[in-house]
Amino acid sequence: MTLRNDRLLRALRRQAVDCTPVWFMRQAGRYLPEYRQLREKYDFLTLSQNPELAAQITLMPLQRFELDAVILFADILLPLVGVGVDLEYTASGDGPLIRNTLRNAADVERLRVPSPEESVPFVLEAIRLARPLLDGRVPLIGFAGAPFTLASYLIEGGASRNYQRTKAFMFQERVAWRELLEKLTHLTSDYLRAQVRAGAQALQLFDSWVGCLAPSDYQDYVLPYSRQVILAARSEGVPVIHFGTGTAGLLEAMREAGGDVIGIDWRIDLDAAWQRVGPKVGIQGNLDPTALLGPWPEVQRRVQDILDRAAGRPGHIFNLGHGLLPETPLENVAALVDYVHEHTQR
Ligand code: CP3
Repeated sequence: MTLRNDRLLRALRRQAVDCTPVWFMRQAGRYLPEYRQLREKYDFLTLSQNPELAAQITLMPLQRFELDAVILFADILLPLVGVGVDLEYTASGDGPLIRNTLRNAADVERLRVPSPEESVPFVLEAIRLARPLLDGRVPLIGFAGAPFTLASYLIEGGASRNYQRTKAFMFQERVAWRELLEKLTHLTSDYLRAQVRAGAQALQLFDSWVGCLAPSDYQDYVLPYSRQVILAARSEGVPVIHFGTGTAGLLEAMREAGGDVIGIDWRIDLDAAWQRVGPKVGIQGNLDPTALLGPWPEVQRRVQDILDRAAGRPGHIFNLGHGLLPETPLENVAALVDYVHEHTQR
């Protein structure tokens, strides 16, 4: 099926575009009243394990905004259930909670690496249902958590301030760490390949928490695994976005690990980041999601600053530096999408 809007895929390959493509991390989520309404009836895991509902939520943001892509409604932690983890999403919405955290080498040994068809058939089915619903309007982005970020959840059990347990495990249990990352690399590679075979047209690898690492530790303990996942994903013929937050110290190394486009947050200026990774990859980002809570003229000023720094280079994909906040006013989202399209006409 031909895509009627292929701006995102063109930008991912650094080809010429009629205007800069724009989509948002967490665009299928709690800032949408129609999503919150569904959440009153069903909890998050129920929604994500129901392919019909997940496909429907994936398309929700398109009904409101002229976005250039949709991202599959799922979560980076879903494939961990089949590994042997008790995953819960707390009712308060504070995020995921894993009770049986990894403590030692024996715990790593016990982890299974099931096939995605066995452990997350509902995600693959949601992709198969979303594609015909999209009917070629925009591409569908699939995604996975990168091995480091997944490992951090398995070890910490949830969000963390400083990733102390994860880093202590990494430094003290060096052999078990490698075994853990190898298992997660295998799991994530198979998962991303299966998503492409089900119909995902681009992929994003979320290494959300990798910015807590020193560059040399990233090189030693993380880079080889992320590189392997990205190679596996690209072997299916789709472009890959490699995203992390707080990565100003890691950009060259992340680029070395791979990705057609590097996703950055707002803690570094977009032009400075691009200079660091060089012209052979694109950049996705990088508005501070908190800025979108503010009055539109202030948002507009920051958006224009990002566009000025991107300077019409091929390979810029407009996004936030992290996910949309649940409190984000819908009218700011709509105005932002239109502003980017109107002010980047080539
Ligand atoms: O719209 C989309 O971006 C697609 C769906 C998506 C979700 N999670 C749905 C979700 C994606 C791409 C993710 C990725 C994800 N999940 C990441 C990487 C991106 C990032 O934010 O760094 C991480 C770290 C997670 C883990 C996770 N899941 C957290 C920290 C939370 C709670 C906090 C929050 O921001 O919502 C979740 C729950 C979650 N994942 C929700 C949604 C819509 C909210 C669940 C609810 O409805 O209560």
